[in-house]
Amino acid sequence: MGKLLVIQGDITTQEVDAIVNAANNSLLGGGGVDGAIHRAAGPQLLHECRTLGGCQTGEAKVTRGYNLPAQWVIHTVGPIWRGGAYNEDQLLASCYRNSLAQAIQLGVKTIAFPSISTGIYSFPVQQAARIAIREFAHFLDRDQTIAEISMVAFDANTFGHYKQEAERAGLLREDPPIGKN
Ligand code: APR
Repeated sequence: MGKLLVIQGDITTQEVDAIVNAANNSLLGGGGVDGAIHRAAGPQLLHECRTLGGCQTGEAKVTRGYNLPAQWVIHTVGPIWRGGAYNEDQLLASCYRNSLAQAIQLGVKTIAFPSISTGIYSFPVQQAARIAIREFAHFLDRDQTIAEISMVAFDANTFGHYKQEAERAGLLREDPPIGKN
């Protein structure tokens, strides 16, 4: 069974096979993590994105990573938070499920996710973390191909929410302190 890591950092520097981008429906770049990934990958990323014809909310599409350490970028579009009565939870869950399905297709072993929809799209972080961790738990229960999923939080507050949810789900096996068993 693959491992889940919850870390605080910059997803563009992660040495993994694929990173996930929290994009918008146009796939033509933006601010936040989308902007950071495009800046780090270089202009060829936008050139390839232009060939994809956009992306539906909840769906995921793949490009190469170009100047990023990651070989692939899986672009997914999270829901904009509009109060919770517009299928936001299900759409966010779909982002994680569809991104993981693309990762399987690519045969990647390691993948890093940002906190989808919790920035410009204003999805409440604790609720988003619960959805993300639940999807990781379901996936890791039945998949044997992905060795490591990293949840990369950019700030301490986001990190705290994902760590708490991962601990609640029993997905963060704390390694015993050295010397004590
Ligand atoms: N590494 C990891 N996480 C990052 C990075 C980074 N370099 N930069 C930002 N983040 C975090 C944000 O702090 C937030 O926790 O990614 C999370 C998602 O925030 P946004 O990037 O704003 O994404 P989202 O809320 O899904 O909104 C998507 O924003 O950038 C535009 O084009 C994008 O229109 C789309 C919208």
